[in-house]
Amino acid sequence: EDISLGDVCDLLIKLARQAGELMLAADPGSSTATVDTKQNTADLVTETDKAIENSIRSALAEAYPSIAFLGEETHQQGQQLTLAPVFIVDPIDGTTNFIHGYPHVCVSLALVANRESQVGVVYNPFLDQLYTAIKGQGSFLTTGSRRLRLPLRGAGAQPLKDLSTCVVAAEWGYDRRGQNFEIKKGVFAKLAAAREDGGKMVHALRAMGSATLNMCAVAAGQQDVYWEGGAWVWDVAAAYCILKEAGGLIAGGNPGDWDAPIDGRKYLAVRPASSGQEDIVKEFWSVMGDQKME
Ligand code: IPD
Repeated sequence: EDISLGDVCDLLIKLARQAGELMLAADPGSSTATVDTKQNTADLVTETDKAIENSIRSALAEAYPSIAFLGEETHQQGQQLTLAPVFIVDPIDGTTNFIHGYPHVCVSLALVANRESQVGVVYNPFLDQLYTAIKGQGSFLTTGSRRLRLPLRGAGAQPLKDLSTCVVAAEWGYDRRGQNFEIKKGVFAKLAAAREDGGKMVHALRAMGSATLNMCAVAAGQQDVYWEGGAWVWDVAAAYCILKEAGGLIAGGNPGDWDAPIDGRKYLAVRPASSGQEDIVKEFWSVMGDQKME
């Protein structure tokens, strides 16, 4: 069956805006709201996450009954990404932000086929920011009636020099144990520290609290680099298309991994630039040394 990616994108935009209405209407910080923990006290889910995923799932099943569905709140353990087309949905990325009223929160909707993101739609209703991309057609940020092509402010024409000129985004994630945590601690400290030995520190370290929005900010050119180990395919599926269409680069989050499968859970995203993307990746990996995240 031949599906039109443009039609898919239009439907995903409609569903994203509806999800936004549900987020704006919810009051997840109130004392009567149900906030459940999943794997630990930093892994949260609200009634709104579940309600949004259910309504998006049924709308997509009605419009595209032959396309599979993979969602953060309903996925089966061990469910694998195949070559077949699949809608990949995170009803709320940045659930912790959502509960705390910190406005970096979004819904993330993607169509993935051949293990590649074909359409990506991300909507942050609190800031009215809609990011969209269709493979081969560029990516855009729409706020109100203003639609801008990504990257913003001509960032794609700016070369990347080295990490000392970069805003680097990196998340702690919710799994704060073991080897991955130790590696993150070490890398954060090295990047942030004022160095006595003449080495340079980065302009800033940021952790916005949403893997999706971090990648979109890199696509926009607002953050130069984003590194994470531990994100899931639904956190990045839509943003992958948005970042690539903007001219960004995605490598794996471990030294040497140029190939970064969408479900690989470890990512190093670099903003669109006229030159220097691969050198930044190499420099970042050298900060990691020979350690590898699981
Ligand atoms: C999480 C957020 C967080 C990132 C985690 C994600 P959720 O998604 O994107 O910033 O560090 O890896 O799982 O739970 O808010 O959908």
